[in-house]
Amino acid sequence: MARILILGLGRVGLVTAVLLARAGHQVLAVERDPAVRAAVAAGRPPFPEPGLAEALTALRPTGRLAVAAQLPPLEGIEAAFVCVGTPQAAAGGFDLGDLLGALEEIGRRLRHQRGWPRPLAVVVRSTILPGTSETVLIPTLAAAAGTPCGCTFELLHLPEFLREGSALEDARDPARAVVGERRPGASAPLRALLATTGTVPQPVPLRLAETLKLADNAWHAAKVAFANELGRLAQAFGVDAEALARLFLADHRLNLSAAYLRPGGPFGGPCLGKDLAALLHHARAHGLELPLLAGVEVSNRHHLAWLEGQLRVRVPPPGPVVLHGLAFKPGTGDLRDSPWLALARRLQAGGYGLVLFDPELAPAALPPDLAPLWRPPAAWPTAATVLTTREDAPPDWPTLDLHRLLRARDEPAPAPCRRSARPGDR
Ligand SMILES: NC(=O)c1ccc[n+]([C@@H]2O[C@H](COP(=O)([O-])OP(=O)(O)OC[C@H]3O[C@@H](n4cnc5c(N)ncnc54)[C@H](O)[C@@H]3O)[C@@H](O)[C@H]2O)c1
Repeated sequence: MARILILGLGRVGLVTAVLLARAGHQVLAVERDPAVRAAVAAGRPPFPEPGLAEALTALRPTGRLAVAAQLPPLEGIEAAFVCVGTPQAAAGGFDLGDLLGALEEIGRRLRHQRGWPRPLAVVVRSTILPGTSETVLIPTLAAAAGTPCGCTFELLHLPEFLREGSALEDARDPARAVVGERRPGASAPLRALLATTGTVPQPVPLRLAETLKLADNAWHAAKVAFANELGRLAQAFGVDAEALARLFLADHRLNLSAAYLRPGGPFGGPCLGKDLAALLHHARAHGLELPLLAGVEVSNRHHLAWLEGQLRVRVPPPGPVVLHGLAFKPGTGDLRDSPWLALARRLQAGGYGLVLFDPELAPAALPPDLAPLWRPPAAWPTAATVLTTREDAPPDWPTLDLHRLLRARDEPAPAPCRRSARPGDR
């Protein structure tokens, strides 16, 4: 049994408190709102949430969940879960006022009351932007505590993925859980504590944990907007929106799967761009604006420009560079709407000495403006860097994998690098 502190009794804090108290720990929840404190002290949820009333009623006789208005002395406390709100800031980003206030309170207590050597796990559950833990939270806590991180405290980020309306169940049985840590192993005591609730989060770097939560919510928001755009266009085209959704959702190979959800090259080929453009045109003819789907086209163009920018940093013009693998997807020999031909034109216009090659194509397949750039490997300029979209670039050439540029921001060049994941499967 551990002694645990929770700061903030919104859904995240209360659900965290309930799960830890149910696992047998002694939980003290600090909440500044007296109405919330009174409700929880009386075993009543301060907001409607399925299962919470029963959970609080069951916990009441155990005395394992107590509430307070002020932070207690921190001696003997194993972990402090900071679950305060981070609303949208007027100037953009998150308003960190409550979070920094809570950390400063903990830091002041640490400075005056906490003895070395057991660091208090300060577990931030509030949603924050990537980099916030390292650049704002740790310095704030360290300044208030008067010691660096790892001494009297260890700051960890444990993002919460629950949904309101199924908060207790989502938190009890998460699809996956991660904990952000400052250095490998720093989260070990917290992971052991959480194992008692049945969930052991995967340790990851702080920035990855911070970003994952935002990635999830961006995706969920995009899903809602996508479903609604499908619904709008179904109605405009005289199609049963519900039947369309049902059949759309029946495809677990492409529609509801990891397919197309890994970063890599832009989309292209004979279907996606053409069909999306036709759909948007038809929708406009019906007086419909579909900003998400229209933005998909824009995003794809931006992605190619971004890729070229990444290349320029690693292999500045004039290169020379060989673009190896021109088909929109390896193994198809299909050049229709290939993003790599578009990249070739950008590189050519951008002052690169450019050679083109694809082991599955004949030079005659190239459009006339690019055909003169075709050279087989024996005729490549000796100083060239090979930019490849395939896995079979000649091994003796310095090679930059175009799909990989997205995965590693600091991917050096020209470095021999092999693709670690499946070939782009669009
Ligand atoms: N609500 C959700 O579904 C959900 C899901 C996942 C993550 N989150 C994130 O988790 C965080 C908390 O969300 P929430 O909805 O539980 O928050 P909330 O805003 O509903 O509740 C926060 C509580 O913290 C209290 N508080 C603020 N500062 C305090 C302090 N210094 N000491 C004690 N109490 C203090 C407030 O009075 C309030 O009751 C946010 O960053 C949110 O974005 C929320």
